[in-house]
Amino acid sequence: MPYLKSFTCALVTGASSGLGEEFALQIASRVDKIVLVARRESLLEQLADRIRSRHPRVAVGVFALDLTKRADRERLVETLAGRGVTPDLLVNNAGLGDYGEFATADWEKIQSMLQVNIEALTHLTHLLVPGMIRRGGAIINVSSLASVIPIPDFAVYAATKAYVTSFSEALRIELREHHIPVLAVCPGPVKTGFGTASRRSGHSPEMPSRQSFYVPKQQVVAESLAALDRNAARIYPGLKTAAAAFVLTAIPIVVLRFALGFRPRRNG
Ligand SMILES: NC(=O)c1ccc[n+]([C@@H]2O[C@H](COP(=O)([O-])OP(=O)(O)OC[C@H]3O[C@@H](n4cnc5c(N)ncnc54)[C@H](OP(=O)(O)O)[C@@H]3O)[C@@H](O)[C@H]2O)c1
Repeated sequence: MPYLKSFTCALVTGASSGLGEEFALQIASRVDKIVLVARRESLLEQLADRIRSRHPRVAVGVFALDLTKRADRERLVETLAGRGVTPDLLVNNAGLGDYGEFATADWEKIQSMLQVNIEALTHLTHLLVPGMIRRGGAIINVSSLASVIPIPDFAVYAATKAYVTSFSEALRIELREHHIPVLAVCPGPVKTGFGTASRRSGHSPEMPSRQSFYVPKQQVVAESLAALDRNAARIYPGLKTAAAAFVLTAIPIVVLRFALGFRPRRNG
């Protein structure tokens, strides 16, 4: 059943770059209204102009706000409700990582990761689900391949994504009787602003990952929307990512503990 055909308004968080921008571009052709959320207003306005020129009939709303702030999240939903805008497709995409040892991490960054990756995703879902139960809807939560195993030097990030995948799976079961699909998107490496945002400084090492393992963001989003259309619970976009997920989830934790000890990086 093609779910997207029946949506009127999508809300995409983290739409100023990377996967969120691509979600907005691909979803725009299939909705009447789209709401773009992130902090960098100029990038959101540029994206809004691109969407308007490609799809003149689509109404585009730009909300520059900080998802770490509860008040910003509440104001967003209140403002939309005041304008009679009720998102029925929520794409919880905004997120950030922090690559390096936990002991030397900056607390402000850890806190932002917890607030954006976990709290904002959960809060926006909580604010919008009641309306979806009344009128219909769907939720896409952008998790990660990192959600399937603990990752030293990416410990908090991987744990936040384990939360996202677990939460999505459980919520999906709760919302089944209301016919609201919930999809967890679990990409492997994708070329976006994520790598730079995850580095601790210009001199700190980049996250190790093979070039051949990268999946284009266009493919990640296209596979994700196709997965939503067929009401899948989870998608690992790209064949290599899917194969990696299959192998990683089959490895016993005792073996993983041993193997992960040989990690490529030791210092934060
Ligand atoms: N790229 C990868 O390899 C990869 C792999 C697996 C999963 N993911 C997940 O994919 C999602 C999208 O990331 P990406 O790869 O597209 O990275 P990205 O290009 O860095 O995009 C991250 C987005 O999140 C937004 N964001 C971050 N903090 C925010 C805050 N406090 N308030 C509002 N918006 C905030 C950013 O907007 P502003 O800076 O303008 O606020 C930006 O639009 C994330 O959840 C990430 O964990 C990425």
